[in-house]
Amino acid sequence: MNVLVTGGAGYIGSHAVQRLLRDGHTVFVLDNLVRGHRKALRAIGLGTNDRLRFIEGEVTKPTAITRAFRQLPFDCVMHFAALAYVGESVDQPLRYYDANTTGLLRILQACEKFNVRRLVFSSSCSTYGDPPEGRIPVDEDCPQHPVSPYGRTKLAGEWLIRDFAESRRRAGKPFAYAFLRYFNVCGCDTTGLLGEDHEPETHLVPILLEVALGKRERVDIHGTDYPTPDGTCVRDYVHVEDLIDAHVLAMEKMRDGEGGAYNVGIGKGYSVRQIIESARRVTKHAIPSHEGPRRAGDAAMLYNNPEKIRRELGWSPKHTDLDEIIATAWRWFSANPNGYES
Ligand SMILES: NC(=O)c1ccc[n+]([C@@H]2O[C@H](COP(=O)([O-])OP(=O)(O)OC[C@H]3O[C@@H](n4cnc5c(N)ncnc54)[C@H](O)[C@@H]3O)[C@@H](O)[C@H]2O)c1
Repeated sequence: MNVLVTGGAGYIGSHAVQRLLRDGHTVFVLDNLVRGHRKALRAIGLGTNDRLRFIEGEVTKPTAITRAFRQLPFDCVMHFAALAYVGESVDQPLRYYDANTTGLLRILQACEKFNVRRLVFSSSCSTYGDPPEGRIPVDEDCPQHPVSPYGRTKLAGEWLIRDFAESRRRAGKPFAYAFLRYFNVCGCDTTGLLGEDHEPETHLVPILLEVALGKRERVDIHGTDYPTPDGTCVRDYVHVEDLIDAHVLAMEKMRDGEGGAYNVGIGKGYSVRQIIESARRVTKHAIPSHEGPRRAGDAAMLYNNPEKIRRELGWSPKHTDLDEIIATAWRWFSANPNGYES
């Protein structure tokens, strides 16, 4: 297939590009490099593999998008491009709605104009907010009440896609879509070529590895009095390669005009303390931590019920051992202590 990957120079998008190339697809990346890395694309074939092409451009700008859509007749769009920091979205909501919601709107307009019929959308478990009692593990029918502008841009995106697909159905031009609501994505590709390089970094696993590398003094634990087994927040950590498996399955299995939402998480929760302990075992570094107050908007517990994605897409995670997952990230971080600039 010809696949447009927006945000393909970012952490998750670059792993998708690597996998799609490996599966024999032709991949076109559109990314403005605000948080992505040309070097990530070079590591997996930009300049050497003629099935990989790249345009540096904005998903919010029709000119850049039209340039991309004119390159190839795309069979599918994987839309990763977005701003993805919850805290930043509170301070800069307009910037987030522009990148995440206007960006998606422009992509859908191009899908209409160029008659592209499939889309896989990066949604998020943050669309669930703090699920009501009795709804953990979270299934796809859990009420969605996001508690941050970031989460709301993702939920708005889901509705935008649903409404667009309905209009295409009525027009006799069926549009298929999958919303993949990711839980906490972590790990790096097992061949060691791709990593996670964000500035600033806000995700727990890379922060721990930066402490192990001596780039940070300590990790802050936000809240130790949650109603969880050890008082710290519990999350579902899914390996990036398993997440990409879900994208490929969704792309291959989606049928004309059908749409669905799928949670992507392994179905097991780990506390912040458990993740820290695992990183200490894997890196063999002390990783000092500091216990602070709760952070506004953090749910105590959030992990997935993977039943639907198992049943409908046949997905199951290959990486379920926490130490092994963190070891894939440590391998890249220790080989690239300054990220892609190493
Ligand atoms: N990392 C996670 O745990 C997680 C969890 C849930 C959802 N997601 C979603 O997955 C997707 C990828 O996340 P990631 O962690 O790889 O983030 P990332 O920041 O590494 O990747 C996003 C990419 O999009 C690009 N981009 C941003 N705005 C753009 C714009 N206006 N035009 C063109 N390109 C633009 C960035 O340069 C970057 O390469 C995002 O949509 C994010 O919201 C991530």
